[in-house]
Amino acid sequence: MNTKLLKDTTEDIAAAADILAAGGLVAFPTETVYGLGANALDAEAVGKVYAAKGRPSDNPMIVHISSKDDLLALTPEVTADMQLLMEHFWPGPMTMIVPRLSLIPDTTTGGLDTVGIRMPDHPVALSLISAAQCPVAAPSANLSGKPSPTTAKDVKEDLYGRVDAIIESTDCQVGIESTVIDMTGEQPMILRPGIITREDFEEALKKPVALDPTLNQRPDTFNNEDFKPRAPGMKYKHYAPKAQMTVFEGSPQAVQEVICREAEKYRAEGKKVCVISFDEKDQKAAAHQFFARLREADREGADMILASALPEEGIGFSVMNRMLKSAGYNIRKV
Ligand code: TXA
Ligand code: MG
Repeated sequence: MNTKLLKDTTEDIAAAADILAAGGLVAFPTETVYGLGANALDAEAVGKVYAAKGRPSDNPMIVHISSKDDLLALTPEVTADMQLLMEHFWPGPMTMIVPRLSLIPDTTTGGLDTVGIRMPDHPVALSLISAAQCPVAAPSANLSGKPSPTTAKDVKEDLYGRVDAIIESTDCQVGIESTVIDMTGEQPMILRPGIITREDFEEALKKPVALDPTLNQRPDTFNNEDFKPRAPGMKYKHYAPKAQMTVFEGSPQAVQEVICREAEKYRAEGKKVCVISFDEKDQKAAAHQFFARLREADREGADMILASALPEEGIGFSVMNRMLKSAGYNIRKV
């Protein structure tokens, strides 16, 4: 397929919107990660997204809107809690799972009777969705299983030749995907952690918010029968770099010592080693850089990635969710 490379100019965004409206696929920037968009109401177009990414068809897409009012057309009722969350966190890195109206095709929701909706906080994404005049289904714009793309270069590497157009814009600020919160049960429940944390939601809603219990599990295998996250996408092997990755947990000093020693050992064996560690006090920076570091390791042809764990609190919990998946839960306590 001939992929058009577009800029983030008004003219190019209009051209991209025409492609979406005509049933084509466009990769575009958001504040979290780049997304691969299709008209969410066009089952055939959405089907092409699964094919381009190599994504399992039971893994539902997030539907992106450009104005809060657009929600009314997609779900039967906007509850008081949904209203509060919208006011606090949209536009922004929050996806709400809500009951769906039947105009959203099964292909978009992976056959579920609920749908994930998000209004992104990015001028290019908002202009694109509004110009296309349709809600836009968009998973992250990576090949299924690979690290999420936070730069235009990442998207081109994975999807050039597989989609109709790619809008090349600046790097994504947040760096990890939106927090997914399920609003269909008795109590709101976080299905995927992100930079909006449980504490942020509890403060906005003035009530307790649950965490999908599988978020605290560390399965030894992804085929484990007991590992059944509520967001279908959370069960797949994810974000995997080509290198063999190990996460070291322990006191910062001990971790640093062991990583240095291990790195030296592997280098002496002629292996290429990449070390990933972040400033524990700047968790937003860790979120911003994490996927970019994995992609960098791949580009450098690393054989081994040695990563130091972050404290699993606040945004650190969300980064660790990705880090442990990337490493296939290969953890060493020191
Ligand atoms: O930040 C983001 O959310 C990015 C940008 C592009 O907006 N999108 C993104 O999409 O990360 P994706 O498809 O890579 O991840 C969507 C996640 C998956 O884990 C999926 O299973 C879950 O959301 N999800 C979507 N709809 C759902 C539903 N109705 N019920 C439960 N989980 C759902
Ligand atoms: Mg994804």
